[in-house]
Amino acid sequence: MDDLKAKYLGLISDAADEAALEDIRVTAVGKKGEISLKMRELGKMTPEERQVAGPALNALKDEVNSAIAAKKAGLADEALNERLKTEWLDVTLPGRGRPAGTIHPISQVSQEVQALFADLGFSVAEGPQIEDDWHNFDALNIPSHHPARGEMDTFYMHRDEGDNRPPHVLRTHTSPVQIRSLLANGAPIRVICPGRVYRADYDQTHTPMFHQVEGLAIDKDISMANLKWVLEEFVKAFFEVDDVELRFRASHFPFTEPSAEVDIRCSWDNGQLKVGEGDDWLEILGSGMVHPKVLEAGGVDPSQWQGFAFGVGIDRIAMLKYGIPDLRAFFDSDLRWLRNYGFTALDQPDLASGLSR
Ligand code: DAH
Repeated sequence: MDDLKAKYLGLISDAADEAALEDIRVTAVGKKGEISLKMRELGKMTPEERQVAGPALNALKDEVNSAIAAKKAGLADEALNERLKTEWLDVTLPGRGRPAGTIHPISQVSQEVQALFADLGFSVAEGPQIEDDWHNFDALNIPSHHPARGEMDTFYMHRDEGDNRPPHVLRTHTSPVQIRSLLANGAPIRVICPGRVYRADYDQTHTPMFHQVEGLAIDKDISMANLKWVLEEFVKAFFEVDDVELRFRASHFPFTEPSAEVDIRCSWDNGQLKVGEGDDWLEILGSGMVHPKVLEAGGVDPSQWQGFAFGVGIDRIAMLKYGIPDLRAFFDSDLRWLRNYGFTALDQPDLASGLSR
């Protein structure tokens, strides 16, 4: 019994792998194993012999089985350690950055303008991009014979023969939202209306779809002086400079009287634009005192109320502020361009921390 025990425990401890262990198990305690065969001989023994040999053989079988189980666990641990030595991962390495999406400069600038005018007490209004010609033209004092209709390169919506609904256009400017806001809310009112507008035009500075923001302030005693102050505040805050010089040029728009186009002082050095200094002027917006006929179309009595309006090209001021040379790139959906000119989603513009940071 002692010989058997020494033999098998020795073999088990020397076993190199699980297959060798399994062989030992079969030879020792398998159906025809050495220890199993010895147990079968118990029947041939005298009862006295059996009383001693039986428990001893059982104990030996248990001991061999548990030695095999322990060795098996040991081999598995070793195998795992071996694997861990080769298959390791340095968790301190920086992760591979997933390219994050960016906010388009147009969205960023729209939000900047909204944050800025909210601070001046303007709320935001919106209107439809498919507009009827009354809101887009007539109500803004642009009757059908008016040259401005032709000048605007308007996209007209298709109409079937016999369809006598009013003609619809892709709105050529955000000014119709003035009318909608006046009709909905009356005076006094202070709103800005950002959004997409459309004209059939395409070159380095024109795309068939672009963006404007309209401003409207109507009250009892609003004058041209208020317009000038608001626009100066707007331009200074937007371009994040202490001083800008604006030039108000007498102009003509059907919906304002008097009307002024506003230019901003700037310089072009090696194609690099600087706002606020230099000998050049860049036109950035149209403005004026709202025409009495426009107030009337908006359901507001022009003998009681007056005020100013303006319209700014969002794409244009975005190009100026962020040094973007070609307007068309805004709408090419070129990811390399977006990564370069886009803003991170966390750069929400607000006045306290700086509009663009
Ligand atoms: N609607 C004009 C345009 O698209 C811009 C404009 C000029 C808007 C003068 C105004 C304004 O509100 O007063 O060219």
